[in-house]
Formats: sequence, C-alpha cells, structure tokens
Amino acid sequence: MVRLVRRGSVAACLMLSGMIATAGAETPPESPVERGRALVNGIVACGNCHTPQGPNGPVAGRELAGGTPFVEEPFTAYASNITPDPETGIGRWTDEQLIAAIREGRRPDGSLIGPPMPFGFYRGLSDGDLRAIVAYLRSVPPVRHSVPKSEYRMALPAAYGPPVGSVAEIPRTDPVTYGAYMAGPLGHCMECHTPMLPDGRLDMTRMGAGGRNFTGPWGNAVSRNITQDKEHGLGGWTDAEIRKAITEGVRPDGHRLSPPMGYHYYKSMSDGELGALVAYLRTLPPTR
Ligand code: HEC
Ligand code: HEC
Repeated sequence: MVRLVRRGSVAACLMLSGMIATAGAETPPESPVERGRALVNGIVACGNCHTPQGPNGPVAGRELAGGTPFVEEPFTAYASNITPDPETGIGRWTDEQLIAAIREGRRPDGSLIGPPMPFGFYRGLSDGDLRAIVAYLRSVPPVRHSVPKSEYRMALPAAYGPPVGSVAEIPRTDPVTYGAYMAGPLGHCMECHTPMLPDGRLDMTRMGAGGRNFTGPWGNAVSRNITQDKEHGLGGWTDAEIRKAITEGVRPDGHRLSPPMGYHYYKSMSDGELGALVAYLRTLPPTR
C-alpha cells in the first residue's frame, strides 16, 4: 500500500497519512535494514544485553560485540558477540541459522542458547521483522571479540517449544494490537514486568504486575507494576508521564529509574510507536 502511494497519488497519500495518524503508527521505513535498525536500536534493544556497557552507557565502537556477564543463580551467562566477525561473531551463520537462533534458541550445531535471552517472546517475532533484524545485524561493523563461555549449572530444556514455522506480520494500523506486539515479542517488556511462578514460568494471569528482581552493577532493582492499578500501577499516570518513564527513566515525582531497563534505546522510538505502546498498557487490567 505504501509503495503504491510513493508512486504518486496525492489523494491516496493524504488518505493514507490520515489513516496512519489515527492509527498512531507511521510509514514503515524503506528497506529491511532500515526497519531492522529502527527495531534493534529502539524497542527490541538487543544491545541492552549484547553491547558492552561502560559507566556512560553502551561502549562506542563495540555495538553488539558481547561479553556482558549475567550472574544469576543457577548460571553465569555471557552475552555473545553477534557482530558479523567470522571468527568470534556470527559472520559465518546463514540467515536461516540466525533466524533459528533468535526465534527458537538453537545454534547451527544444534546446541541450545541459554537464558536470559527472552525466547518465549521472540517466538512471536514476525517473519518480516526477524529478517529485518538479521539484515541489520549483517550491517553493523564486525568486532573481533572472544567472549567467555556461559556456564549453566542446571539442565537446559530440550527445546523452547515446537518449531515456529511462520509468523504473519502484525498490522500497524491498530495501536492496541501493535502495542501488544511491542510489549511482547518485540520489546519483551512483559518478560521483566510479569511475576514468575515457582516453576520459573511467567504468571500470565498477573501480566505486568512487576515484582521481579534484577541485580547488577546498579545494585538491586525490582520491576514495577505497569498495569492500570491506581495505587501500585500506572492507572493514575498521564500518557506523557508513562512516556517519560519509558524513554527517560524518570517517574512523575522526579525519581530516576535504574537499569536494566533500556531507557536510552526506547528514547529512539517514534511518536506512533510510543502511542501504540501506551495504548496497549492502558488495556492491562489493574492488578495488585
Ligand atoms: C536479556 C538479555 C538478552 C537479550 C535482550 C538478547 N540476548 Fe541474545 N543472548 C544473550 C545471552 C546471555 C546469550 C548467550 C547465551 C549462551 O551462552 O548460551 C545470547 C546469545 C545469542 C545468540 C547466540 C550466539 C552464539 O554465538 O551462540 C544470538 C544469535 C543472539 N543472542 C542474538 C540476539 C538478538 C538478535 C537479540 C535481539 C533480537 C538478542 N540476542 C537479545 C542475552 C540476550
Ligand atoms: C530488563 C528488564 C526490563 C525490561 C525489558 C523492561 N523493563 Fe520496565 N522496568 C524494569 C525495572 C527493574 C524497573 C524499575 C526500576 C527502578 O525502580 O529503578 C522498570 C520500570 C518501569 C516503569 C516505571 C514504573 C514506575 O512505577 O516507576 C515503566 C512505566 C516501565 N518499566 C515500562 C516498561 C515498558 C513499557 C517496557 C517495554 C518497552 C519495559 N518497561 C521493559 C525492568 C524492565
């Protein structure tokens, strides 16, 4: 539809921009690499785990070069180098191999990639978005960087689920639908903001209720309740206040929020994307 518009008709263009304005989304970027760049440097934020962090944020010239440790019982995991370096990165992997790694957690040699990469959500990435992410990974500068091997003192499952097959594109015309896709498969907001059951699975009946612990160089942070609960959640916040917390890490009372949430990535989301995300958060039933 968009391509058709680019070929010329002003009337169609106005109609489309009107439709998009009401939908709160915007014209999709041109190429898969552009879409992938917007996703990876925005809502998807692979670099929040895969780019080494210095005291002033991501280390320049080391984008996606890996090495960040995740020390959590029962594992010590190191984010992999996912730059196109052929020796220490993913330079020799085919597109299909990268897709299987991201969506199903399986390496080309058949071994399973361990936590904390959010495979439960990445299974829902659409075919087009996954290809865009892969196209973008291929475009970042290769960095030679060997990363220590992760140590899992637990048995990894045999697989994260049955083969995914194909996932259709999520329409960007309905903000709540697209916002749900952003908070789930794309941004895994709900991985961090949903409490865990004793068996380690997320308690989807309390989606967004928060309460998970994240320990790191920042100390200990507890994910907050982002449901519509008026007292403990975002029910009493304005849209602008929610946007500011997500993109700047500042609460309405001025309190600064801590990592590991990737505020500086979310800052680059477009107005339409943020609108869709907030529209979806507004639909989360109040949960204590
Ligand atoms: C919450 C942190 C986290 C996020 C977010 C994350 N990853 Fe990972 N990823 C890891 C860790 C840790 C490993 C290493 C796990 C292991 O050693 O088994 C890993 C491993 C990988 C591997 C396997 C590489 C290899 O050489 O074995 C690929 C490919 C990968 N990630 C791609 C991505 C992409 C693309 C994204 C964004 C769509 C992403 N990851 C988001 C933490 C994360
Ligand atoms: C890696 C884990 C992680 C991810 C991913 C994540 N968050 Fe958070 N978020 C947190 C933590 C932890 C806090 C609390 C930080 C603090 O208290 O300093 C937080 C705080 C917030 C707050 C502030 C709430 C309040 O009451 O102060 C909002 C809003 C929020 N997150 C929304 C989101 C949205 C929307 C996404 C997805 C785009 C997201 N988060 C992704 C971990 C995460």
